[in-house]
Amino acid sequence: MNAPELTEDEYLGLYQRATENGAEWWRVSVADRPENYRLEHGTDHGDRTGAVDIDLVVDAENLRAKLKKWRREGFAIDTDNVDAEHDTAERIAFMPALRRAAALTAAAKQRHMEGAAESVRIGHVDVPCGMDSPLVPRINPAYLFSERFNDIVEDIVENRRVMLIGHTGAGKTSLIEQVAARARHGVLRSNMNGQTTVGDFVGFWTVKGGETLWVDGVLPTAMREGLWLIVDEIDFAEPSILAALTAVLEPHGRLVLKEKGNEIVAPHPAFRLFATANAVGAMSQFRHLYQGANLMNEAFLDRWRVYLLDYLSPAEEADVLIRTLAPQMTRSLAVTLAAIAADCRAAFAREDLSSAFSTRRLLDWAELMLRTGDPERAAGPAIYAKVSPEDAALIRGIIRHHIAPAA
Ligand SMILES: Nc1ncnc2c1ncn2[C@@H]1O[C@H](COP(=O)(O)OP(=O)(O)OP(=O)(O)O)[C@@H](O)[C@H]1O
Ligand SMILES: [Mg+2]
Repeated sequence: MNAPELTEDEYLGLYQRATENGAEWWRVSVADRPENYRLEHGTDHGDRTGAVDIDLVVDAENLRAKLKKWRREGFAIDTDNVDAEHDTAERIAFMPALRRAAALTAAAKQRHMEGAAESVRIGHVDVPCGMDSPLVPRINPAYLFSERFNDIVEDIVENRRVMLIGHTGAGKTSLIEQVAARARHGVLRSNMNGQTTVGDFVGFWTVKGGETLWVDGVLPTAMREGLWLIVDEIDFAEPSILAALTAVLEPHGRLVLKEKGNEIVAPHPAFRLFATANAVGAMSQFRHLYQGANLMNEAFLDRWRVYLLDYLSPAEEADVLIRTLAPQMTRSLAVTLAAIAADCRAAFAREDLSSAFSTRRLLDWAELMLRTGDPERAAGPAIYAKVSPEDAALIRGIIRHHIAPAA
């Protein structure tokens, strides 16, 4: 076959020949520059896979010349995908190719951001700013953006639907609120574990001064006004609410207000949708701790990016204690308190304790302790009164293990 007669697609692939102790190959792929081809060369020795040792970009004419030369040298195109050596070459080529693709994606995003309005850097991510409004949460200056949060923040910028799952007080709501606070976006929250009806969520008709009026629920309000909506405890939501949500889970998904003559609500570009849950997906193993939570079906979950948010590490939590309660909170006090919280959580995970130990609870206890100078007295209203007597006894034991009584 004559190379120039091939269509572009047919140039691409793996050309290889057997050598004394393995195989030698050229891999032809489309280069980043238009009408150029990337040629990578490598050798495989038995089951030891060699790295790419030549990597160049050529134009079509040059490629045709190479193809002729390779054919003379005994290279043949491998069109059989299940061939083991082909697999080896593909395995080696995957990560370098992916890294290049990721770098191109980041560069494209950067160019896009440069043309955009004002933005604020959160972790590694530039987040476009919204407008000041009374619904913008207050900045918590002690809030710690962990390295793990970068992917989540990037998803927010990309307008993905983000669901945060994790134990109570792990920091699900505050993460979204603190991103919103810094980028100045208004936030609405709607809790599904309570009296939220589909009317509250979607909207309802009411009579006012003899006139019949439509009142938007939180979802259309957030969509029209470009607010961030957090659907808290989504695993407790009624099916009719989930049905309304499903429509807007696509990035540009519109809401149809059936009750209002099928009015269509298109999302404002700043609108973002979040959900939090304690017991879905990877957290299902803890369902018995969150009575009444519904299992969410996979098709619904697949429409979200679902992140499991664990408690902060003891080192991170000690930092948060210091940042929140400085200057009185010293590092050595903070490290001990964070270790107590970690031990309580381990007991909870073993099911020795039936109540979770949230960062919220730890901060509250620490604050009261600084006021009273007495960990045990502070633990009364901050911890013991909120849990069963058995749990209180166990937590008291953990605290005593870390803090010797005053001399
Ligand atoms: N990264 C952090 N930096 C500083 N404080 C934090 C951090 N994460 C959590 N906290 C503290 O813990 C408190 C509880 O977090 P948050 O309310 O976000 O938890 P949650 O996971 O939404 O809990 P729930 O499931 O009960 O709604 C916050 O008010 C905040 O004070
Ligand atoms: Mg919350």
